[in-house]
Amino acid sequence: MTKDASNLPPNSSPPSTSKGLEGVIALETAICDIDGTKGTLIYGGYDIQDLAAHCTFEEVTYLLWNGHLPDRIQLDHLNRSLTAERSIPPMVKELLAITPDDANPMALLRTAVSALALFDGEADDMSPDSNYRKSVRLTAQIPTILANFDRRRKSQDPIPPLRDGSIASNFLYMLHGEEPGEAAEKTFDACLVLHAEHGLNASTFAGRVIGATLSDIYSAITGALGGLKGPLHGGANIKVMEMLMEIDRTGSDPKQWVLEKLNNKERIMGFGHRVYKTLDPRAAILRDMLSKLSSERGSSKWFDMSMVIAETVVSEKGLHPNVDFFSASVYGTLDIPSDLFTPIFGMSRISGWTAHLMEQWKDNRLIRPRAAYVGPRNLKTGR
Ligand code: CMC
Repeated sequence: MTKDASNLPPNSSPPSTSKGLEGVIALETAICDIDGTKGTLIYGGYDIQDLAAHCTFEEVTYLLWNGHLPDRIQLDHLNRSLTAERSIPPMVKELLAITPDDANPMALLRTAVSALALFDGEADDMSPDSNYRKSVRLTAQIPTILANFDRRRKSQDPIPPLRDGSIASNFLYMLHGEEPGEAAEKTFDACLVLHAEHGLNASTFAGRVIGATLSDIYSAITGALGGLKGPLHGGANIKVMEMLMEIDRTGSDPKQWVLEKLNNKERIMGFGHRVYKTLDPRAAILRDMLSKLSSERGSSKWFDMSMVIAETVVSEKGLHPNVDFFSASVYGTLDIPSDLFTPIFGMSRISGWTAHLMEQWKDNRLIRPRAAYVGPRNLKTGR
């Protein structure tokens, strides 16, 4: 906490602020908990390692939305609803068709999600049932938007979504034009589970602030996507891949490359975290996934380079890898274009964002903190 007593009105106590809201408990949630000292993460009571190993993204989405894992009937119902909502409105397809090929995919996704509201007859219906249906729709349609955009910009015809199968397998199918093998589907599905939720991170907080004004779900998700785009948040995974590619292209020694950046006081993307003071548990799972994937594919280039970088940053700065560090190489190994990494983060985090919005609206209060004014007072225009 910092205190700044300058420019205070007489007889007032100094304001207490926390830069970046560090350590501030802004609200109560039953969705997720992070222990940054122990390096643990739970969704709705379940440890992330258990969920990533044993549950699908659809099951985890149900958990986040309903507070418990689904039984077979509940899961079948959710799967049917999700597959039924995969197609995007024709006007949004037209928007994708006129989007420049070199558009930033996060800007495209943010714009397309905002546009979805225009073609959703219940966009402004704030009933819980309607918001649940829209959460299903958004979760189902974001993969279609991303795959459609990626194919168009490569002058390939968009592939309509399948009417069955998981979100992970359908997305990889729409992106690459062929159904993924079981190992690729399982790996990608686990990545979606790992990115689904993470407490009151910047994008979720932005979404809840917008939702708390009783604005609609599309507005809140559009805002959350804007927050995720930044390189200090979800945008870091793209920067991680750029770093690996630069080291590879220039034939640099990864350790020397990192040391030089740190000497220049530059940040190494994919390291450090506001909450974790030890290894992010998601990074540990992704590291093991990358190791397995690399041996399966017979290419350990990204894994080897990543391990040297991680060892160097830990020993030099005491900073550990976060979720964005190893996920970048996992996605790269799955032949996903690097500028889609952050949109894919959003494609997963939509489940957590919508869970938080529904929780917010169950017991809503406007989120409206105050700022400690440190500007001048008692000035006169003299006019
Ligand atoms: N590389 C080098 N130095 C760093 C890094 C880094 N990645 N992260 C923090 N530091 C240093 C920073 O320079 C500062 O040093 P000093 O006190 O000497 O000026 C100190 O650590 C504290 O940094 P901070 O920015 O005040 O810490 P924070 O809690 O606000 O930052 C963070 C958290 C994630 C923004 C930061 O660690 C960072 O910029 N990391 C790189 C970007 C990144 O990987 N973001 C993804 C975060 S996890 C997934 C997600 O939420 O999307």
